[in-house]
Amino acid sequence: MSSSPRPVLKWAGGKRQLLDVIDANLPAELISGDIATYVEPMVGGGAVFFHMKQRYGKTLANYYISDYNWDLFVLYRVIKTRVGALIEELQTLADEYLPLPPTQQGDKEGERISMYKRIREEYNEDAWDEDRYLRNGTSFRRRMTDRWVRRAAMTVFLNRTCFNGLYRVNSSGKFNVPHGRYAKPDIVAEDNLRAVSRILRDVKISVGSYEDNLEMADEKTLVYFDPPYRPLPGTPSFTDYHKATFGDAEQETLAGAFRELHQRGAKVMLSNSDPKNTDDNDEFFDELYSEFNIRRVLANRAINSDGAGRGTITEILVTNYGGQT
Ligand SMILES: C[S@@+](CC[C@H](N)C(=O)[O-])C[C@H]1O[C@@H](n2cnc3c(N)ncnc32)[C@H](O)[C@@H]1O
Repeated sequence: MSSSPRPVLKWAGGKRQLLDVIDANLPAELISGDIATYVEPMVGGGAVFFHMKQRYGKTLANYYISDYNWDLFVLYRVIKTRVGALIEELQTLADEYLPLPPTQQGDKEGERISMYKRIREEYNEDAWDEDRYLRNGTSFRRRMTDRWVRRAAMTVFLNRTCFNGLYRVNSSGKFNVPHGRYAKPDIVAEDNLRAVSRILRDVKISVGSYEDNLEMADEKTLVYFDPPYRPLPGTPSFTDYHKATFGDAEQETLAGAFRELHQRGAKVMLSNSDPKNTDDNDEFFDELYSEFNIRRVLANRAINSDGAGRGTITEILVTNYGGQT
C-alpha cells in the first residue's frame, strides 16, 4: 500500500501550517517550468521539502536538502538507503516499549520511563559521530553501517516517545527531553518510511552549514531558507536544534547569503518570525531585507509555550521576486 510521504519527525518550527502561503508565493518561473533545481539548506523535519517534492516532482529535476543537524542527516541517509533495516530496528524497539504500561500524569518512574532513559543514554553516550571525520566525501553509501541504522532508529524512537515530540539538546549537545505520555505512539510507521524512502531516492542529502551547501544554486534554482526563528522579544527561544545559537548576528550573515544568491540570479524565499507581533517598532527584518519583498502572513502557531498567543500571529516571508499573485 502506498501513502503520501509526510515528515518523519516532529520538529520545532515545522512549516506544515504555512504550506498554502508558501505555495501562493512561489516564483512564476517555477510554474512555467523555468526552474530546475530546489535547494533547502535548513530542511529540519522537511514539511516544505516533502510538499515541494510531491507537488513539483515532475517540474523540478534536482533536489538538494541539508541541515546543520547530524542526526537529521543520518536519519535521511538511512531512510534513503537502508529503510528495511531501519524498520526492523524500530520494530524491535516498539515490541519492547508498547506492551509496557503507559505512563500516567505525575508518574516519575515506570517501565516505559526506564526504557526511554536507557535509549536516551545510549543515544547520548554513543560515539558514532567519530566516524564522521573519517569520511572522504564519496564513501558515505558504503559506510551506512548498522551503527548508523541504530542511530537513526533511536532518533525516531525518542521523537515518538519524548515529551511533545521535541528535539532539544543542551549546551554539551546532549539530547535532554523528558519522557512523554503517549499511550500508543506509532513508533514504526512503516508505510510512511517506505514512501519517504522512495521520495528521497533522487534527492541529494548533505550536512553542515547552509553556507557550504549553496554552490549548486544558479539562475534556474529556487532556494528556500527556514532558519531558526528570531525569538520574539519576551518569549522563550526554541532554537536549540543543535548546540550553536542563531542570534541576530547569524540572521545578518544569512541575509548576506540571501543577497549573494540574488546576485547569482537564483530565486530565494525565506521565512521567519515577525518581531512586530510583540513590538510594532521592531524593524529588524524590514531593514535587513529592505531591498526585497517582505510579506506578513498569518501563521497558526503558539507564541508562548503555554499556547496563550495561538492563532493570530504573523510571520514574515521574504522573496527576491514578485510571486505568483
Ligand atoms: C525552523 S527549523 C526548519 C523547519 C523545517 N522547515 C520544517 O518544516 O521542519 C530550522 C532548521 O535550521 C537548522 N539550522 C540551524 N542553523 C543552521 C545553519 N547554520 N546551517 C544549516 N542549518 C541550520 C536547524 O537544525 C533546524 O533544523
